Amino acid sequence: MLTCISHIGGIAFAKSGFSWDADLDLIFEILSKHFDHFNDNGFYAHPDEVELRKELARVPTLAHLTEGLRGLRTNGTVLYGLGLEGLPEERRNAALYALTLMLGYPTSTDQRTGRVAWDVRARPVEEGGRRFTTFSERVGRADMHTDSSFYPMPEEQFILYVVNAARCNGGHSLLIDAEDIHTALQRTPEGRAAFELLGTTPVPFRVPAVYAAGDDNVEVFVAPVFGPTKIKRSGSRPGPRFTMRWRYDSIVKGLDARPDLDTPALRDAVELMNEAAETGADRFCEQLPTDTLMVVDNHHMLHGRTTYTDEKRHLVRIRISDVPNAERIGPSGVSKD
Ligand SMILES: [Fe+2]
Repeated sequence: MLTCISHIGGIAFAKSGFSWDADLDLIFEILSKHFDHFNDNGFYAHPDEVELRKELARVPTLAHLTEGLRGLRTNGTVLYGLGLEGLPEERRNAALYALTLMLGYPTSTDQRTGRVAWDVRARPVEEGGRRFTTFSERVGRADMHTDSSFYPMPEEQFILYVVNAARCNGGHSLLIDAEDIHTALQRTPEGRAAFELLGTTPVPFRVPAVYAAGDDNVEVFVAPVFGPTKIKRSGSRPGPRFTMRWRYDSIVKGLDARPDLDTPALRDAVELMNEAAETGADRFCEQLPTDTLMVVDNHHMLHGRTTYTDEKRHLVRIRISDVPNAERIGPSGVSKD
């Protein structure tokens, strides 16, 4: 099913050794039966997702692929040649929705539309055509972070699928394993103290959608950066010693909004962690080719992106919760996260 597997740190690299054959049609048929509409091909969190998952598990290619991905038991997987290149959007996104429902429960990435599949690409005009985005918003780099860090239940995983690779010298995908963050911080006494403090102190994360809107109503979620690893359910992914919740700009704005939590020691620890995340820790850095699937553990890896100039670069992202949407607390991350 998956061939040529190699590992670098917590990431597995594999090539697909299968053909979807008629199973893509079968997936499309099943989803067409259950969805009233495809929500502009972005789908939505299906109200009967638990039942739908059981039905999809009977599609052989999907079942084998899921088993292969789960069997790798890594914090990140890069699978080259998924086999969806050139498909019409609705067919490609149907396959991605089905795959993510096999891995967990896909969440709505956009509060307004409820879309599950989100297009990561340059947007010359915002939806509705109301305003132009800035150059940096369109093609800028993304600092290392975990998704949904400012919400109560960050999704455990997400996928990125490369529809069109960047044809320029940028747009590299970046990943850092939690163990490498730990190693970087353990190099100095200050780093060790920062790791300790960020695992025991409540840290305020400001919700970006609120400050982006210039709203006076400041919304902050408070949690440690390093949390305890959850008790592993049988068959779930193994985790390292701790989980991570990280988004530097959100914390800096959170500290400004909550002076009661702001101390010089915490500020120093946040700066040291930012240094480890941006430069100090070992990282995976690659321009992913078209038709690559990346599966990332959002609790045990940081991710980011380098600047790019090719506006045709196009990825699809879907976030995946370990628990059904009906059991989740609070919203999912913001679309640009
Ligand atoms: Fe992200």
